[in-house]
Amino acid sequence: MASVQIRAVKKQFGSTQIIRGVDIDIADGEFTVLVGPSGCGKSTLLRMLAGLEEITGGEILIGGTVVNNVQPKDRDIAMVFQNYALYPHMTVRDNMAFSLTLAKKDKSFVDERVKKAADILGLNQLLDRYPRQLSGGQRQRVAMGRAIVRDPQVFLFDEPLSNLDAKLRVQMRTEIKELHQRLKTTSIYVTHDQIEAMTMADQIVVMRDGLVEQRGRPLDLYDHPANLFVAGFIGSPAMNFIPATLRRNGGGGAAEVEFADGTRVPAPYGSALQGNDGQKVTYGVRPEHLSIGAAGQGIATKVIVVEPTGADTEVFSRFGETSLTSIFRERHDFGAGDVIHLVPDHSRTHLFDAESGKSLAAR
Ligand SMILES: Nc1ncnc2c1ncn2[C@@H]1O[C@H](COP(=O)(O)OP(=O)(O)OP(=O)(O)O)[C@@H](O)[C@H]1O
Ligand SMILES: [Mg+2]
Repeated sequence: MASVQIRAVKKQFGSTQIIRGVDIDIADGEFTVLVGPSGCGKSTLLRMLAGLEEITGGEILIGGTVVNNVQPKDRDIAMVFQNYALYPHMTVRDNMAFSLTLAKKDKSFVDERVKKAADILGLNQLLDRYPRQLSGGQRQRVAMGRAIVRDPQVFLFDEPLSNLDAKLRVQMRTEIKELHQRLKTTSIYVTHDQIEAMTMADQIVVMRDGLVEQRGRPLDLYDHPANLFVAGFIGSPAMNFIPATLRRNGGGGAAEVEFADGTRVPAPYGSALQGNDGQKVTYGVRPEHLSIGAAGQGIATKVIVVEPTGADTEVFSRFGETSLTSIFRERHDFGAGDVIHLVPDHSRTHLFDAESGKSLAAR
């Protein structure tokens, strides 16, 4: 196990800057999840950590040692890919043993490592099969086994579950989390899946366009997004955004937020609110922080679609130009065209500068 430091790391392909100066600190044993839109540089960053891609600038340290010029095989890192990359002509046992055999470890050592990994992953009955004789989840487990046998300092995962169906994903997600609790190997995990990121991570790093937008513990990012991008990216269904104007009310009364139709609601953050009277802002409220109020309360919206999932009711409604999503634990029998009054939980709303997108909460 080892800590990992990524310091001012840059990557250029030809004249195109792909990673534009990334700093990430990963403590020994920590599980870090990288998220961000397609093309933002997640896989490139992982490949640089693994040594499969050269670094244009900055430093990568593993266990306190700069590894910029260390060969991939000497970095003591194991990577698990989306497509598993198993050798089709080799049995499960040989697939798992491959890297150790290649490193000329003696047979009893290899057998013992493979057996231990197979025990952990429940692969004992499958050791003599070939990849084609396995289900998707079993193949994924073999790919994990191949990483585990090496007992590396760091695991890198690049969307390892994205080829699996929804149910298997959930199961494997729990297995990977359990595995991490057991082995405590420093792990860096790339995913597109919100729930995977929120539930697996000690630390989430949100990337966009080759830069880190914010990093922190999952619930900290969820509760205190630093900007509009992170607010909209973390959480599913996503946070609602409504264009508005900040009203300071002469500094006397509490600040308010005014929408285009003149509706006003209390501004968030109390005395920690930044921003000036008349400033253009974006108001943010999560679907689960809206409740139904009486006429005259909150925000009057017109219902477009109601989706009862059984566990809760998801409602899409319209407020002027803005579509709003709300989620209620209780059941509602209103339908399309009805007017409903959505009352935000004012202690959990957000406000961002309309232009820069930065949160107006003082930090
Ligand atoms: N070898 C290469 N040569 C030139 N450009 C590259 C190369 N590899 C990646 N890129 C570019 O770098 C950018 C980042 O790619 P990367 O694969 O890291 O994105 P990603 O965040 O993993 O995306 P996804 O979520 O789709 O997997 C993309 O614009 C991609 O086209
Ligand atoms: Mg990728």
